[in-house]
Parts: sequence; C-alpha cells; structure tokens
Amino acid sequence: MMIPSTRQPAIRVSLLPRDTNPNGTIFGGVILSYIDQAGAIEARLHGAGRVVTVAMEKVVFHEPVHVGDLASFYGELVRLGRTSVTVKVVVEVTGPGAQPLARRVTEAEITYVNVDEAGRPVPIPRREA
Ligand SMILES: CC(C)(COP(=O)(O)OP(=O)(O)OC[C@H]1O[C@@H](n2cnc3c(N)ncnc32)[C@H](O)[C@@H]1OP(=O)(O)O)[C@@H](O)C(=O)NCCC(=O)NCCS
Repeated sequence: MMIPSTRQPAIRVSLLPRDTNPNGTIFGGVILSYIDQAGAIEARLHGAGRVVTVAMEKVVFHEPVHVGDLASFYGELVRLGRTSVTVKVVVEVTGPGAQPLARRVTEAEITYVNVDEAGRPVPIPRREA
C-alpha cells in the first residue's frame, strides 16, 4: 500500500545489515522491538508513566523490509483503560532514495500496563480535557 507520510512518527530508524534474517530481509523481531518502543512512547502521551508490555496482538507483516529502508513507527490510541492502555502501531518505510511515498509494511496492537516501582498495576492519571 503506498501512502503519503505527513504525520509525526514516534520513532524513525534506518535498518542496518546487522538487522537481517538468513533471507537478507529485516528480521521481524527487530521490527517488533521498535514497535514495542514506539507504542510505549504513545502510551506516555496518554498519561502512562512506568509501563510494561502485557500483550502484543494483531501483528501483521504485510511486506518485507530491506537494508537501507527508512522505517517510521506511528502510534495511535486504541483504548485507554484504568491501568492499561492499548496502542496501534503502524510501520511505514521508504527506500534509500528520495521517495515521497511510503509503503505500509507492518502493524500491531500493543497493550501496556502502568505499574509502580514494584511492578504492580496502578491507575493511569486522567489528563484534563
Ligand atoms: C502486566 C502485569 C503487571 C499485569 O498484572 P495483572 O496481575 O495481570 O494485572 P491485572 O489483572 O490487574 O490487569 C491490569 C490491566 O492489564 C490488563 N490486562 C491483563 N492481561 C491482559 C492481556 N492479556 N491482554 C490485554 N490486557 C490485559 C487488564 O485488563 C487491566 O487493565 P485495566 O486496568 O485497564 O482494566 C503482569 O502480568 C506482568 O508483570 N507481566 C509481565 C510484563 C513484562 O515483563 N513485560 C515485558 C515482556 S518481556
């Protein structure tokens, strides 16, 4: 899917040869690691503080990612619970050239739980409207 990128990503990263799998494309676990980080950044925008990841769901790898691709990780709120927040992260890439259009390559929904120093769930403070 080709889409123009106008929004601000939580993370933008260039993928390196060290990130590849035996097929020479980018290892899915590397993408998931960045998705987890990008989602946590989005969770903090909605009031969460210290968070742990409790679930990653609806992970779909639409297309392979290649060395030199510039990957942008966009977060959006799905659900704000009492102690948990669920975020959708969409990953779009552009190739090494100056391409104006991005390809949507991966997406996932991640749920984070707001925890105290002992790792126990605590309510997420509500932001004033
Ligand atoms: C996350 C953790 C603190 C939750 O503890 P818990 O005793 O299950 O907590 P609770 O039952 O009170 O649930 C807390 C919140 O998590 C949500 N939750 C629990 N399990 C869930 C799941 N499988 N999927 C989605 N949400 C879930 C609950 O709905 C609740 O949300 P709400 O308060 O907004 O309604 C605990 O499971 C944990 O420490 N897990 C390991 C986290 C971790 O180390 N992550 C890194 C992975 S390497």
